[in-house]
Amino acid sequence: MPALFTHEFATDPYPAYAWLREHAPVYKTVLPSGVEAWLVTRYADAREALADPRLSKNPVHHSEAAHGKGKVGIPGERSANLMTHLLNIDPPDHTRLRRLVSKAFTPRRVAAFEPRVRELADRLIDGFAARGHADLIHEFAFPLPIYAICDMLGVPAEDQDDFRDWAGMMIRHGGGPRGGVGRAVKRMRAYLAELIHRKRGESGDDLISGLIRASDHGEQLTENEAAAMAFILLFAGFETTVNLIGNGTYALLSHPDQRRLFQDALAADDTGLLRTAVEELLRYDGPVELATWRFATEPMTIGGQRVEPGDPVLVVLAAADRDPARFDDPDTLDLTRSDNQHLGYGHGIHYCLGAPLARLEGHIALATLFGRLPDLRLAVEPSELRRRGGLIMRGLRELPVEFEPVR
Ligand code: HEM
Repeated sequence: MPALFTHEFATDPYPAYAWLREHAPVYKTVLPSGVEAWLVTRYADAREALADPRLSKNPVHHSEAAHGKGKVGIPGERSANLMTHLLNIDPPDHTRLRRLVSKAFTPRRVAAFEPRVRELADRLIDGFAARGHADLIHEFAFPLPIYAICDMLGVPAEDQDDFRDWAGMMIRHGGGPRGGVGRAVKRMRAYLAELIHRKRGESGDDLISGLIRASDHGEQLTENEAAAMAFILLFAGFETTVNLIGNGTYALLSHPDQRRLFQDALAADDTGLLRTAVEELLRYDGPVELATWRFATEPMTIGGQRVEPGDPVLVVLAAADRDPARFDDPDTLDLTRSDNQHLGYGHGIHYCLGAPLARLEGHIALATLFGRLPDLRLAVEPSELRRRGGLIMRGLRELPVEFEPVR
């Protein structure tokens, strides 16, 4: 049995996941936080569990919650009054809130945002292009999604650097002391509540105004719900996209043949390949290693294993997406892969609401980066790259690169 949650595991968890898939596909473990949870690693079981209504998202169902031991969820969310958001609730509340937010956060609104994301990517690259080296996490992958979602929500430009700082606090503290994250969460939440209050009654066409106005059969979001919703869009859409850009760039840099294919597609404006490439990068080394928490509400079996009410269940997306029972040659990065129903965005009613925006940002970020800096290369040995801590996400702490300076 390979060790879980060690340094080696964080660098490359895939061999351990292969072992679990083969020998203990639904496996009870003690997480670094001390909480016990089941890990589900096979694709078929994972897909079924993600859509199983007997697995609740609401932490009140956690058996340890009653004893005050439950260390699950977003740090600081209790004190910031953030418990009622999509990733913490079940139908019928989930159905109602998701329908309302879907009215504001539409694929059309996302598509209209494309020129703005291009502009942002170009501006960030302008910041380091003449220097010949950069840390792509801090200077590119990290600021791009935070500015993008701030713009979309309608956070005024002069306040966006505050969000960058708060988001930085969240990422720096990921997996570490929870105090810093809790403080950042509270400040962000307070700012959003105030912004929503100010925008009520205005007729802006930003996403926050859309959330305020969205109505379904006469129902609207309360100010509190709108603030929690704006926050979860930021929270769920931020580190995930940082990791898509970071892990995706690293995967391309460390697979020269696939990188050549990507750059040839860019030169030929082959948008079909660029699209399948982003999906494959998500499958191969996706941003979300484990789907967010689920709790059994009744005795049930998952993959033949009995699970008791109150047990936490973690679906390991990173393991499911390398399952040889579902994907040919799962450990090979193949940008042309077409049969690619990966679980990187989840599955079922909690399927990623931001997938269209994530795809847009991932596509534009990688295309702009490799288009403008075609000789991009790693500036350190892969073994020197450090990963960020934290259970749910999988991403790099930094990504130092070099290239021929461009003026
Ligand atoms: C849900 C992945 C970007 C907003 C999810 C889930 C996954 C996921 C796996 C389901 C979690 C579960 O079932 O436990 C990703 C990845 C992203 C990304 C890989 C980037 C590459 C975004 C963006 C936004 C966003 C940009 C919004 C701006 C959400 C929301 C949910 C969600 C609101 C909760 C949906 C619900 O519970 O109904 N995401 N996400 N995500 N995502 Fe994303």
